Amino acid sequence: MPFDLSDRSVVVTGASSGIGAAVAVEAARRGARIGLVARREAELAAVLDRCRHHAPRSEMWVCDLADAARLDALVHDLPERLGGVDVLINNAGIPKRRHVTRLTPAEVDAATRINYLVPVHLALALLPGMLERGEGRIINVASVAAVLSSPGESAYNASKAALTVWSETADVDLDGTGVRVHVVHPGVVDTPLFDVPDNDDLVNPVDPIPVGEAAAAVLEPLESDALITYVPGYFADLARAKADDPQGFLEGVAEWVRDERGDRSN
Ligand SMILES: NC(=O)c1ccc[n+]([C@@H]2O[C@H](COP(=O)([O-])OP(=O)(O)OC[C@H]3O[C@@H](n4cnc5c(N)ncnc54)[C@H](OP(=O)(O)O)[C@@H]3O)[C@@H](O)[C@H]2O)c1
Repeated sequence: MPFDLSDRSVVVTGASSGIGAAVAVEAARRGARIGLVARREAELAAVLDRCRHHAPRSEMWVCDLADAARLDALVHDLPERLGGVDVLINNAGIPKRRHVTRLTPAEVDAATRINYLVPVHLALALLPGMLERGEGRIINVASVAAVLSSPGESAYNASKAALTVWSETADVDLDGTGVRVHVVHPGVVDTPLFDVPDNDDLVNPVDPIPVGEAAAAVLEPLESDALITYVPGYFADLARAKADDPQGFLEGVAEWVRDERGDRSN
């Protein structure tokens, strides 16, 4: 059943830029009051202004989600100030493009915390309220990298794959409760994610999709009820190709990387 956003409260993490900012404004435009969360205050305030144009009761929380004490305080404050949380959009995330030979355990920890543990902690904290009301939606923004094992991003891919499997299992567990969990897998989107410092270059820069297209896909499960959404949709075919023949698919990826690097000696 489509989930109407009018007069609902929607929490969007990572709402200060990119996909999260676009999702927050679009959800506000559809009549929801928004709880925006991120670290950069000025950027978040600018997005809040845009949300309040449509939804005056929207609020923002300046919060480093990697800080356990701040996260704890946040999950108590969100439902109180928003009057419950109907939809949680776990969008905050960090990239980690690092060849495995140079990857550090600290980098793995950081990617795992923001991209997997934090979304799960937020979901678990807000779930009881949703169960009490007999309805709610949790939308987790993962990545096609979780499914296709993009080269040079093992820590990022694994964090998003963990989020994907958690979401799939949670959605099965919640069958019949009125609460749904969804996963969205964007491909390359035109956002500041690629400007985050301390990351390797992309193996092969591709034409990104516009941020509005990705934001629409993040909200799409509210209409379609789909457990998994790919954007662009053709990534579903690639995912099927990999599932059918993982070794052949990954050998093809290795060959492609060798070609891109012009290094035929490997
Ligand atoms: N762009 C792509 O090609 C692409 C593809 C697939 C999936 N994704 C996923 O889409 C999501 C949004 O990314 P984006 O592309 O829109 O990039 P972005 O513009 O860099 O957005 C990332 C958001 O996460 C927030 N964030 C990061 N670390 C945080 C922390 N410790 N505490 C609180 N907030 C934090 C950032 O806000 P502050 O810096 O203000 O804290 C920012 O609002 C991510 O989960 C990303 O992995 C992106």
